[in-house]
Amino acid sequence: MRTQVVIVGGGPSGLLLGQLLHKAGIDTVVLEHKSRAYVLGRIRAGVLERGLVGLMGEAGVDARMKAQGFVHDGTLIAYDGDMFRVDFSKHTDATVVVYGQTELTRDLYEAREAMGGDTRFEVDNVVIHDADTLAPYVTFEQDGATTRIDCDFVAGCDGFHGVSRKTIPDSVRTDYEKVYPFGWLGVLSETPPVNDELIYANSDRGFALCSMRNAQLSRYYIQCANGDSPDNWSDDAFWDELRRRIPDAAAQTLVTGPSIEKSIAPLRSFVTEPMRWGRLFLCGDAAHIVPPTGAKGLNTAASDVHYLNQGLRQFYADGDSHGIDTYSQKALARVWKTQRFSWWFSNLMHHYPDQTDFDKKMQLAELALLRDSAEAQAAMALNYVGLPY
Ligand code: FAD
Ligand code: DHB
Repeated sequence: MRTQVVIVGGGPSGLLLGQLLHKAGIDTVVLEHKSRAYVLGRIRAGVLERGLVGLMGEAGVDARMKAQGFVHDGTLIAYDGDMFRVDFSKHTDATVVVYGQTELTRDLYEAREAMGGDTRFEVDNVVIHDADTLAPYVTFEQDGATTRIDCDFVAGCDGFHGVSRKTIPDSVRTDYEKVYPFGWLGVLSETPPVNDELIYANSDRGFALCSMRNAQLSRYYIQCANGDSPDNWSDDAFWDELRRRIPDAAAQTLVTGPSIEKSIAPLRSFVTEPMRWGRLFLCGDAAHIVPPTGAKGLNTAASDVHYLNQGLRQFYADGDSHGIDTYSQKALARVWKTQRFSWWFSNLMHHYPDQTDFDKKMQLAELALLRDSAEAQAAMALNYVGLPY
């Protein structure tokens, strides 16, 4: 069979790209290794930048997000018994929307089904062939049969562990990586959020974050050691530790309940260059990972989708390859700025195992600068709501 663009990976990047291309009359097939239920069961990001919110609108899938998402125009930062607010509206013309990746992915799947999009779930052994020629094709196995799809382009949207990045030869690719000496233990609970805005807390016991999905669904994280396991944490132990790390007023009003999900995410910064090899384009986690502090993972995936969508549209509309030829360069320019923000915010908020007293003083001085300086807050707000595309 044949299609115009094979999209490897049915996570948010692949699905959003599929919807945007569909709006331009470009045919896609999405190949997803897992089942639909499995993809929708993953609890991940929760804060959407203005760029991603705009793309959901462009793709025609923003009705539920608009109705149910919470618009936030500021966030709280707690440290050393103090707490201050960074006001996004004061420093930018934008806000963010709190709406879970799970819900966004569900909306995209429903839209894809409604438009009769071709999605293959539970596929194995996806192989991308001849990506450096004008006639690439993709093979995969499903229910014991092997299928070949010829195409014009392949979009590698298959996450950090996917096959797309590895298809680019080592001689062409450079990987940049930093692994942090801690992870995040996250809990989802059917309880009202402790605060109506997010609280990022730097404490001597380690970082904590109070977030949410809706008025009855809270998401909390605490920094934990690498190699720790969710099995080591009873719900009570998690709540006790969270209370110790957040300001007293929040700790006293925190409503706790049974966890409905508990997992650990390691923290990593990673970028591969280039993001294009011939007719293969990498998008999202396939090309880069940020530590979660500041919620940039999903949002950076979306900015890649934006540049690739523009390039492919331009190519199909008038045969102009400028957009796809500059895709890697444009995407990476924004990716590195987002990497810098996530790295900076992670360094500012976490307790490092080898942190010296001097290092701690530096964190406190930088937090005080952020609290007291309109310019420092403006820089943070600009990055938090999302750099323009
Ligand atoms: P993915 O969501 O990883 O989707 C890739 C898809 O490709 C998956 O469905 C996968 O099953 C499929 N796939 C993989 N290999 C193959 C293959 N060989 N063939 C076919 N399909 C394949 N970001 C935040 O901003 N905040 C958070 O709190 C946050 N928490 C996270 C927690 C975890 C555990 C992880 C892993 C990520 C988290 N992120 C978070 C990051 C954010 O979720 C990602 O940046 C986002 O999911 C990227 O979307 P994607 O579509 O590029 O990749
Ligand atoms: C969430 C995750 C983040 O990394 C973040 O900075 C803000 C919110 C969340 O899962 O809600």
